Amino acid sequence: MSFRLQPAPPARPNRCQLFGPGSRPAIFEKMAASAADVINLDLEDSVAPDDKAEARQNIIQAIGDIDWNTKHLSVRINALDTPYWYQDVVGLLENASERLDQIMIPKVGCAADIYAVDALVTAVEAARGRSKPIAFEVIIESAAGLSNVQEIAAASPRLQAMSLGAADFAASMGMQTTGIGGTQENYYMIHEGQKYWGDPWHWAQTAIVAACRSHGVLPVDGPFGDFSDDEGFIAQARRSATLGMVGKWAIHPRQVALANEVFTPSAEQVAEAREILAAMEQAKKDGAGATVYKGRLVDIASIKQAEVIVKQAELIGAG
Ligand code: COA
Ligand code: MG
Repeated sequence: MSFRLQPAPPARPNRCQLFGPGSRPAIFEKMAASAADVINLDLEDSVAPDDKAEARQNIIQAIGDIDWNTKHLSVRINALDTPYWYQDVVGLLENASERLDQIMIPKVGCAADIYAVDALVTAVEAARGRSKPIAFEVIIESAAGLSNVQEIAAASPRLQAMSLGAADFAASMGMQTTGIGGTQENYYMIHEGQKYWGDPWHWAQTAIVAACRSHGVLPVDGPFGDFSDDEGFIAQARRSATLGMVGKWAIHPRQVALANEVFTPSAEQVAEAREILAAMEQAKKDGAGATVYKGRLVDIASIKQAEVIVKQAELIGAG
């Protein structure tokens, strides 16, 4: 480890973030009753311009009225290039109950975007005497956002999570696709006449994970648009989990169980991680720094890898 230690991210489960439009209050109770760890009530792109004001009122009321249980409750505000965002922030912080945990800032392009929202939030919190500081989460979904991902991850102590937004990101990058995440038909290699599909989201995801891990922020995979394709969702989620992301959005309730399954370490994974820790404990007693587990090398780095899985399982209560 560098002399500068890697900070721990917030110790809360974030396996699935379930979204719902603020203009559709009939589903709020269903969202609260779901198995998602995080709820995102949306004021941005799932709400038509004429419905923004009403959606804001629906959300403010629902934050106080509905029993959200232990869910981490977040509201996605409009982006900083719109005329809506300041009213979203002021409306929420002046009127919503302290049950609100977080706001999600979409389409961030640089650290100054977060600075601007932080200044406004801090002023309203002080004016209203709010005792619970609002947390932030952001979406990286533009060329600028990804280019500046390190400074964005370091922008505010309020920042808890960062998601990749595949659709807006693809548009901003000029990618030739209308799909939201997942396999892209035209992204393949040819070997001996056979097609092999690569992962066009890999670099963006890895850059986000590195920025988040450097600054104690939770890295999250965003939406998978085709909600009738469970297999495609699971494949995308497994790649994200393998790269270090802690969860994924659900844009339809049927995706919640899929995300929870992928981002909860399995009983076999946890058992194996614990066996590796036990093997290394024995190695330490024997004065060795490395040993053999199931025919393969395990050493001090393996302890850290195994601890990632055990800690994640303990956090979720799956250990
Ligand atoms: N959260 C909780 N429940 C939801 C839901 C959601 N996001 N979306 C739908 N439901 C409910 C429906 O009310 C319905 O309930 P019922 O069985 O009691 O009648 C059930 O789940 C099945 O819904 P279905 O008919 O398959 O979907 P739909 O046509 O009503 O809605 C979408 C489909 C995609 C429009 C809707 O899921 C949605 O708005 N998703 C979120 C979009 C969003 O927020 N996007 C922004 C982030 S990318
Ligand atoms: Mg978007």
